[in-house]
Amino acid sequence: MSEQTIPSLSGYEEPTLEAAFITLSEEVRTTAAETAADPEAFRLHWLGRKQGRLKLISEAWLKSAPPEAKKALGIRFNELKALVEYQLSPERLVKVPVSEPGLVSEYATQGGTIAASLQNKKHPHPLDITLPGTLRAPGIPHPLLKTMHEIVSVFHHLGYSTNLGPQVESDFYNFEALNFPENHPARDTQDTLVIANQQSRPSRDRLLMRTHTSPVQIRTMIAQAPPIRIVIPGKVHRNDAADATHSPIFHQIEGLCVDTNITFSDLKGTLDHAMKALFGSDVKTRFFPSFFPFTEPSADVQISCIFCGGKGCRKCKHSGWIELLGCGMVDPAVFAAVIAERRKINPADNTYNPEKITGFAFGMGVERIAMMLHGVSDIGHFYSGDMRFLEQFA
Ligand code: DAH
Repeated sequence: MSEQTIPSLSGYEEPTLEAAFITLSEEVRTTAAETAADPEAFRLHWLGRKQGRLKLISEAWLKSAPPEAKKALGIRFNELKALVEYQLSPERLVKVPVSEPGLVSEYATQGGTIAASLQNKKHPHPLDITLPGTLRAPGIPHPLLKTMHEIVSVFHHLGYSTNLGPQVESDFYNFEALNFPENHPARDTQDTLVIANQQSRPSRDRLLMRTHTSPVQIRTMIAQAPPIRIVIPGKVHRNDAADATHSPIFHQIEGLCVDTNITFSDLKGTLDHAMKALFGSDVKTRFFPSFFPFTEPSADVQISCIFCGGKGCRKCKHSGWIELLGCGMVDPAVFAAVIAERRKINPADNTYNPEKITGFAFGMGVERIAMMLHGVSDIGHFYSGDMRFLEQFA
């Protein structure tokens, strides 16, 4: 090992320090290789109390450094010292056992960085290039999100855009403006989860977890004049016990189309197209009279059973039809509530005049559609996080 003089440091800027310490760490590695048979010589050379290189470097560089450069210099100096100490550590000095031929603890001396050396210090044999790599499967969209996306994109192709609304909603948007009067029995069908301590508020402002995505119809119409064509995907909450087909949290997709001359046949044509796009062109639809407070007339849409083609099977309870969503023409009472809100901002507002403007709306459950599309018999699978289930959708 040749005696080396202390190199001079030409400045304290980062690049200069970097270069100086890279040279020194190279020197540590070279001398470590040269003294492999005599660790004590290596130790004295670098760590000797009086003439050790670290001591000399510290005296030459650190002591005379301006105060603002001391920190950066100190950090690098400590790294260098750790590298020297690592060369003397038992794991570094012990030869690689023959039973572990793939281990390359030589890595540090063969050009690994100081950081890698420090890491090696904690883990004696960190890098075994003979081990198989860790395989990380690429992520996939959750089957519910995927279904939601498929449904939404059918409507995007028809020129609809997407709107979102809050999950914590007020009584006004979730019920009142949708023509559910206070104390009306129709509210009971919604099994509402209410937010605590709302009694002191006026009833229209009381907060609850939205029970459907329909309140976003109201939010959209208050904010926006016709024509409107939107779909609203989102999470909804109901006080339902969980079983194979129910979950207190589930997802819906709402649709709203408002314009001049929108008729029930537009509604039928739109939903018939959407069902064919989702379930296949053989699928038939039929519209069954129903009731929703915010649509008049209202209908339940049924599709011909996708399992038996309409012949009748257990899945469709031998009827040949499966009920899938609710829909109807927007009730004039809903337009009236929207106009009242809009007139608070502009008293002359008449954009939703039911004499001129009509619309249709529809709402469907995402879980139910995903279960049908993929033959899932228990809604709980969607929320279980069980990879054996989720991987099937990759
Ligand atoms: N909001 C209804 C529900 O959750 C579903 C629905 C029915 C939405 C008819 C609509 C509609 O927009 O027109 O039960």
